[in-house]
Amino acid sequence: MAHVTLPRIGTAEAWREAARGFLTAGTPPDQITWGDNTAPAGLFDAPCPAPPAGAVTVPRSFVQMANTVVWHNDPERFARLYTFLWRLRDAPQLMSDRGDTDLAHLRRMEKNVRRCQHKMKAFVRFREIGGPEDTRRSFAAWFEPTHHTIEPTAQFFARRFTDMDWRILTPDISVFFENGHLRFEEDHPRPELPADASEALWVTYFRNIFNPARLKVRAMQSEMPKKYWKNMPEAAAIPDLIASAPARAREMALAAPTLPPLRTAAVQAQQAALQSVWEGPAEALPRAIHACTRCPLHRTATQAVPGEGPMDADLMIVGEQPGDQEDLQGRPFVGPAGQLFDKVAAMAGLDRQAAFVTNAVKHFKFQPRGRKRLHQRPDKSEIQHCRWWLQAEVAQVRPALIVAMGATAAEALTGSGKDLMRRRGQLEQGPEGIPVLITLHPAYLLRMPDAQKRADAMSVFEADLKLAAQITQSAG
Ligand code: URA
Repeated sequence: MAHVTLPRIGTAEAWREAARGFLTAGTPPDQITWGDNTAPAGLFDAPCPAPPAGAVTVPRSFVQMANTVVWHNDPERFARLYTFLWRLRDAPQLMSDRGDTDLAHLRRMEKNVRRCQHKMKAFVRFREIGGPEDTRRSFAAWFEPTHHTIEPTAQFFARRFTDMDWRILTPDISVFFENGHLRFEEDHPRPELPADASEALWVTYFRNIFNPARLKVRAMQSEMPKKYWKNMPEAAAIPDLIASAPARAREMALAAPTLPPLRTAAVQAQQAALQSVWEGPAEALPRAIHACTRCPLHRTATQAVPGEGPMDADLMIVGEQPGDQEDLQGRPFVGPAGQLFDKVAAMAGLDRQAAFVTNAVKHFKFQPRGRKRLHQRPDKSEIQHCRWWLQAEVAQVRPALIVAMGATAAEALTGSGKDLMRRRGQLEQGPEGIPVLITLHPAYLLRMPDAQKRADAMSVFEADLKLAAQITQSAG
């Protein structure tokens, strides 16, 4: 029976070297006992150097696992590793056998060591020990790791704190970093470390990042186990923070501003955009309307059709939207409905040239049908989006009267497009407080199949336009 004593510093290399030697010599696991220099050898174990290592092939994944497992605090770790390595000789696929209990055990040990390394990186707290005359600042920390993690974790601190000297002292192995060089020592006595001004900072920092509403004591103690608290200045604040957490969480909830849900915020932004006003000089307005992409209608229309007429007109005529001809020519009321309007307006004594003529919606909405484009009524959203431009035109022209022809114009100007026949011939309040006279749309007259009914509607329309002409004349 051979007994191998591994050093506590450089353990990983020493175990690898010994294991290779025994593997080369064909020594089975039950012929070896392993220990480090803290473990007594068995009564019949002969201290023995391992045989010289030959060329053995070992899967890289095993080497990686072994390099971590050797730092576990289980005295059986070296034997477990060698037993598994012995089995691997004939079954290299063992490393990927999830059902193998030996491998599962080693993997758990590996995880424990990694977790311990993680704790060390997070919970080591340095205090300054050097004097003001020293060329390099110097720090020391006392730490009590569960596993032998000083050596495999030292490089992490060396990379972080290159421009100072530091030491991490533990009951087992301690590490010193002086003038850029790492050195390990066994069994260094625990030093008296001075209180540090930065401790108060740690406590303040910890109090500030502590969120009482998120307090989960169990999770917190598993992340920051109590055994580490005594060497962490901020841990002094923990019992008080835990005790006061429920009350602080309630206070936080009461003090929290009530934020509108995201959807509400989006709707509010949309409303604000709709309620804002176009601001610019009158001559820039048609160009701005031509560039409009506020609703999807701009994608299919040939062009936007802005209003036209004198910018100081006393009368504004508002239709629904450009038709096929208007869309092609870029001018309002130039197609069949426009021609009918011109005719009735002339009969009513209304001078179209003196009026500002426009539409509630500036792009043509249609349905393609063969070579034709069939008119489609704009929906509420399109009317609402385009109201921005109508309001801008009203604000620029500031007429004495607006005539709303049809339900779409009535809706855009008064907010309601309902009960047109009952409302027609009457004045309602429109944008900027300007009176709006509601009437029929000329296209409605064109579509009426019954000649008598069409003639009646025509008379009504003419009467309304006559009223509009009178009101405008008396206002002018
Ligand atoms: N119908 C309208 O409402 N406006 C026009 O410009 C043409 C037809």
